[in-house]
Amino acid sequence: MSFPLTSPLLPCVSSTFSNITLFGASIIKLEATQLTNASLAYPYYPIFSGLNFCNVSVSYTHPGQNDTLHVQVWLPSTTYTERMQGIGGGSYAAGLNDVAFGGMALAVSEGYAAVTLDAGLPSQETVDLQPQDWALLSPGNVDLYALQNLGSVSLSDATLLAKDFVKRYYGQPPKFSYWNGCSQGGRQGLMLAQQYPDLYDGILAGSPAISWNKWAVGDYYPTFIMDQLKQYPYPCEVEAIRTAAINACDGLDGVIDGIITDPEACHFNPSTLVGGPVNCSDVAGPHKISDAAVKVVQAVWGGARDARNESLWYGLNKDAVITGSSGLAETACTNGTCSRSPPPLCNTWLQYFLAKDPSVDLSRMTQTYYDDLFRISVQQYTSIYGTDDPDLRSFRDSGGKMITYHGLADVLIPPANTQHYYDAATAVDQSIQDYYRLFFSPGLGHCFGGLGGRPAGAFDALQTWVENGTAPDILIGTSIADSQGKVLARPLCLYPQKQVYKGSGNTSVAESFACE
Ligand SMILES: *[C@@H]1O[C@H](CO)[C@@H](O)[C@H](O)[C@H]1NC(C)=O
Ligand SMILES: *[C@@H]1O[C@H](CO)[C@@H](O)[C@H](O)[C@H]1NC(C)=O
Ligand SMILES: *[C@@H]1O[C@H](CO)[C@@H](O)[C@H](O)[C@H]1NC(C)=O
Ligand SMILES: *[C@@H]1O[C@H](CO)[C@@H](O)[C@H](O)[C@H]1NC(C)=O
Ligand SMILES: *[C@@H]1O[C@H](CO)[C@@H](O)[C@H](O)[C@H]1NC(C)=O
Ligand SMILES: *[C@@H]1O[C@H](CO)[C@@H](O)[C@H](O)[C@H]1NC(C)=O
Ligand SMILES: *[C@@H]1O[C@H](CO)[C@@H](O)[C@H](O)[C@H]1NC(C)=O
Ligand SMILES: *[C@@H]1O[C@H](CO)[C@@H](O)[C@H](O)[C@H]1NC(C)=O
Ligand SMILES: *[C@@H]1O[C@H](CO)[C@@H](O)[C@H](O)[C@H]1NC(C)=O
Repeated sequence: MSFPLTSPLLPCVSSTFSNITLFGASIIKLEATQLTNASLAYPYYPIFSGLNFCNVSVSYTHPGQNDTLHVQVWLPSTTYTERMQGIGGGSYAAGLNDVAFGGMALAVSEGYAAVTLDAGLPSQETVDLQPQDWALLSPGNVDLYALQNLGSVSLSDATLLAKDFVKRYYGQPPKFSYWNGCSQGGRQGLMLAQQYPDLYDGILAGSPAISWNKWAVGDYYPTFIMDQLKQYPYPCEVEAIRTAAINACDGLDGVIDGIITDPEACHFNPSTLVGGPVNCSDVAGPHKISDAAVKVVQAVWGGARDARNESLWYGLNKDAVITGSSGLAETACTNGTCSRSPPPLCNTWLQYFLAKDPSVDLSRMTQTYYDDLFRISVQQYTSIYGTDDPDLRSFRDSGGKMITYHGLADVLIPPANTQHYYDAATAVDQSIQDYYRLFFSPGLGHCFGGLGGRPAGAFDALQTWVENGTAPDILIGTSIADSQGKVLARPLCLYPQKQVYKGSGNTSVAESFACE
């Protein structure tokens, strides 16, 4: 089922795509360039060679909003499978960076027309992208149009443009349209299902950064606790506590592999570890685990609480890595002394979107101020960026299918939030599994990493569901090879089922596990 069938394609020149209209937008510039036998190299992907496609690049504005947004659509010019794929972004980036281009090249190599977008935000390239260069119009004034572009509007714009380009180039619209993203890309996928339910036939929304306005404050809580205690634990202490939890709970699932398969069954209490020995490269000689380190880890696991000791936000599971770059309990240590090192995505959310003042000193925050910031975040940003409307019935009614996977050892977005969202969507519509399925992956970190498995076949499973009507009951997660080259394949179970070891058999192969 490949195109061109009979008729030759129109030339890849801008006039082929002229007179494009998009309601609410004004086109600034459109370029179309043919790539022939192209070799493209991007990080995290193999080198792609022999690619033939028409690169349509468009910039546009929403008149009156003083914004400039960019979209790129790559249209395969030899093998086209009559399908379109939207490629999601990461961090604060909507797309249009090297990681998204890697996804574009992969999609084109498989015969998809592919689309990526920048939502009008500058500097999409940086991996640890931050919003400093667009969040504020001036101190005190958030650029809400920019945030709205990132949150939702750019997704509809880019998809409508891409579908229009496909129609002009091939003479007919795509037979099937898919979204493919994780983290920010997962949030984008959920936003599409919630707000633009008829644009995509299939949505893969991995580790979705939904409830952004809550997790970005909630994940800051361990840093707040350190500031309250005025103590910044050594990473070795924090890691020793995490290791003790894994040692206590790893075997509950019948397999010693460093993975806590059922976090709810792990009731490890770290307070007994205070004063215990720990080897630290951060400090000379033997060291003892401090009370502060235990309190900080408890803050990570228990989640954020307000002045009334009511829960504001979920904790991470006990095998999630919480030290190292962006870790929720990370500290910066030199010469045996550690200081605060807040998770960057949270820190900028608090500074730019909540305090709206880059010079604010968050280290002096009181519990009352923390609670205020959380409340402000919920009040001001839920509709524009929260992306957690549980009513997916319009998506159902337009025939869409959606898959979410989420690592139980996610280091940034608590899987409990995705579970909460899915339960809320189920409360709205009991038939949710007919069109939206959730799979947790024990041991998987945030989209990648960790000891657990990434479901590489999730996109194919989605496509089979959309096109052949066969809904997936499991996904197979495959881990990164360890130092001995060992790879774990495990079934990711359809929520609310859980993965259990059958009690015998090779623990590296999926067949040794069942879903119950
Ligand atoms: C674009 O629109 C103009 C004016 O409506 C029309 O004359 C022209 O033929 C159109 N071009 C294409 C390629 O459709
Ligand atoms: C395509 O490019 C490769 C190098 O990347 C070259 O070896 C090959 O001959 C080219 N094929 C054609 C048909 O030009
Ligand atoms: C696609 O076109 C845009 C705009 O001309 C250009 O910046 C970009 O590098 C092109 N992409 C590729 C892969 O050639
Ligand atoms: C529009 O944005 C540009 C920067 O992108 C800025 O220099 C200019 O002042 C803005 N104009 C208005 C009217 O806000
Ligand atoms: C610290 O390292 C020493 C020497 O390698 C080892 O004997 C000891 O068991 C370690 N202690 C802990 C708490 O890991
Ligand atoms: C806060 O609530 C948690 C969970 O119910 C409980 O474990 C903790 O002891 C409470 N803290 C205080 C100070 O009451
Ligand atoms: C670390 O300690 C060494 C030796 O005491 C000293 O020379 C160096 O300046 C210190 N570095 C920092 C960053 O404090
Ligand atoms: C759908 O089923 C047909 C027949 O079994 C198969 O050839 C095709 O690959 C399937 N398509 C997808 C997307 O799974
Ligand atoms: C278990 O399965 C893995 C992957 O198939 C294989 O490499 C390994 O040799 C097997 N181990 C045993 C003990 O059979």
